Amino acid sequence: MTSRPLRLTIFNHKGGVGKTTLTVNIAAALGEQGKHVLLVDTDPQCNLTSYLLSDDVVDDLLDHSGDPEGQTVWTAIRNVYEEIGEVAHLDPLPTSIDNVDLVPGDIRLSQFEESLGDSWTSCFKRKLGGFRAITAISALVEDIARHSQEAYDFVFYDAGPNIGPLNRVLILDSDFFIVPVACDLFSTRALSTLGQTLKRWVLDWATIEALAPDGVYLLRGKPHFMGHIPQRFKTYGQAMASVPAGFFRRVEKRIYADVIAVLKELRPPLAQGTGSERRLGQVKDFSTTAQRAQLQGVPISRVEGGNESHKTQALHAFRSIAKAIVAQSRG
Ligand SMILES: Nc1ncnc2c1ncn2[C@@H]1O[C@H](COP(=O)(O)OP(=O)(O)OP(=O)(O)O)[C@@H](O)[C@H]1O
Ligand SMILES: [Mg+2]
Repeated sequence: MTSRPLRLTIFNHKGGVGKTTLTVNIAAALGEQGKHVLLVDTDPQCNLTSYLLSDDVVDDLLDHSGDPEGQTVWTAIRNVYEEIGEVAHLDPLPTSIDNVDLVPGDIRLSQFEESLGDSWTSCFKRKLGGFRAITAISALVEDIARHSQEAYDFVFYDAGPNIGPLNRVLILDSDFFIVPVACDLFSTRALSTLGQTLKRWVLDWATIEALAPDGVYLLRGKPHFMGHIPQRFKTYGQAMASVPAGFFRRVEKRIYADVIAVLKELRPPLAQGTGSERRLGQVKDFSTTAQRAQLQGVPISRVEGGNESHKTQALHAFRSIAKAIVAQSRG
């Protein structure tokens, strides 16, 4: 696994369903299990970066990301955006979490995203500049994986909440994606759009790949559905013990109909199994302990102060999800 780290994205275009929180906490659990993880903040909101680094450091990074010695994802891809060169080498930053490094995000990624739609279209016309732009972040990860002293096992892209051209290239560059589903009506309804959109992206990519000039660097192009994670359901003790079970069943049905059934029709199939077989774990509502974790820049299980039971439950929940991810990634 060392020469070619697996790339994953936790994706749901619905906002605020816990993508970034899951990414940090799963990475920490993988790190605890001895896996080396690279987090790439590819959301222009930079929430992942703000979670892991102090405000002062983030400020400084953003102030200097346009400089040649800058350290954000924008620093690396800027030359490609300006059509004056290749992706620049970047050394990821260590974080306070064992075995977890970060490529910091940048609000200027939204500028990059604005041009990505046209870049995508120009790939259909076999324009090299288009290919260079849509593969810029992928090429950055490839370069880091090749040159870093750390042999990464996993790379996570943190995606923003939309179905836009940036997320399209991130998903298409992922070996696997994981879908968090929050306990509300809109979150489950969003799954239908998600499945159809992913299918369209994969089919469009197949066309682009077939048109690609020889030798051009390409996205991986086969994002497999690894599974889903029901999120932020509330439990109120024994009396309400049946609430999550009903919620899980509803989500599993939707996951099957809207995502698995749609993607398994593709060749090769990009999803398989049933909704319940594809539940990677579950993450309950940890209330203010989750927010404290974010403020302290630590995984939920390692919050200072806060609810002890939440911390223990978080430790077990994320450990178990990390184990499921390792197992699934071995095929
Ligand atoms: N399991 C949880 N329990 C309680 N609060 C949570 C949980 N997961 C996330 N949160 C809180 O919900 C908010 C949104 O979480 P997060 O930023 O991870 O979502 P997101 O899907 O990444 O959002 P966006 O779509 O904006 O990228 C944050 O305030 C976070 O602390
Ligand atoms: Mg986020």
